[in-house]
Amino acid sequence: MNSIATRFYATSAIFALAGMTWGIQMSASGDHTLSPAHGHLNLIGFVAMAVFGTFYALSPRAAASRLANIHYFLTVAAVLVIVPGIAMAIKGNGEALAKTGSVLTLATMALFAYVILRNGVASTRPVETPSLNRPAS
Ligand code: HEM
Repeated sequence: MNSIATRFYATSAIFALAGMTWGIQMSASGDHTLSPAHGHLNLIGFVAMAVFGTFYALSPRAAASRLANIHYFLTVAAVLVIVPGIAMAIKGNGEALAKTGSVLTLATMALFAYVILRNGVASTRPVETPSLNRPAS
């Protein structure tokens, strides 16, 4: 598997572990105040990142592009900004971080759409395979 797909998958698993631990902590304490932040950590950090990783695993041409790397760092930045941003907004500590995070998150999805349209899915250069019918020379 290409390295960008591995990075997306590995990071998604780390975000999932953090999100689930947070979920268990919410359940145990009975305090669900921050559940929207937990939900966004799991859905953007785990689900969206794993979907992106699957796309790059299927599309070697997209995975080899410089945009794939930018897409990875943009997605990580979006998660790291929007999740505390939502928590701060819920706690009444300002919405600037949540707003910035939401723009970053939108940008990751716009970039994903661009990478898909530019490279297609499962696209590699056609590989020449030896023909079984070709007479031996
Ligand atoms: C160990 C695993 C998890 C635990 C213990 C857990 C726990 C919780 C708890 C206690 C709530 C609050 C429910 C409420 O107040 O009604 C919640 C909400 C939520 N969780 Fe999880 N969760 C887990 C994993 C996940 C995963 C994997 C996802 C998504 C892929 C997810 C997405 C959500 C969403 C979308 C909400 C609703 C947020 C909202 O109300 O705005 N959770 N979870």
